[in-house]
Amino acid sequence: MVKKILVVCLGNICRSPTGEAVLRHKAKLRGFDLVIDSAGTIAAHAGEGPDSRSVIAGESRGYQFTGIYSRKISVDDFAEFDLILAADKQNLRDLTAICPVDQQHKLALFLSFANGDVAEIPDPYYSGAGGFNKVIDLIEQASDSLLDYLQHTKVQTKSAL
Ligand code: 4NP
Repeated sequence: MVKKILVVCLGNICRSPTGEAVLRHKAKLRGFDLVIDSAGTIAAHAGEGPDSRSVIAGESRGYQFTGIYSRKISVDDFAEFDLILAADKQNLRDLTAICPVDQQHKLALFLSFANGDVAEIPDPYYSGAGGFNKVIDLIEQASDSLLDYLQHTKVQTKSAL
C-alpha cells in the first residue's frame, strides 16, 4: 500500500519541493491520507528553503512551501517510503546506484505517471520564470494522474473511507 511518497531531484530546492507542495495540496483536496516529503541527491543546499523562484511560481497557483527545507536523501529513505519519484533520468540513475536491491521497485520517474510524452522534469535552475512555470505544469499533470492511479488501483487508503 502506498502511504508515503518521496519526490527527489538534484538540489531539493526547485523541482522536488515543488513536487512535494503540489502533491500534498492535491492529495489533501482529494482526501488522500498520504505522507509526502522531498529530498535531493546532493547536499549542496542542505538546510535551505526552496528557491525563491519556485516559491513565487508555486504560491501564485496556491501551493504552500512552509516547512520545506533541502536535505540529501539517506539510505533509510528507501525503506521509509513506499514510492520514490525522480525528477529526471540522472536523478533516477543516482537513486538506482544507492538504493538497496530489495527497494529498487519503489523507484520511478515522476512523469511516468503523466499522460504526456515528456519523460523528465527539466532542471529550471538556470532558466527564467518560464522554466519554473513549466515545472509546475508538468508536476500538476503527473500528480493528478498519480492520484488517479492510486485511487483506481486501490493501493492507497483514503482518509474519507
Ligand atoms: P533542483 O534544481 O534539482 O530542481 O533543486 C537545482 C538546484 C541546484 C542546483 C542545480 C539544480 N545546483 O547546481 O546547485
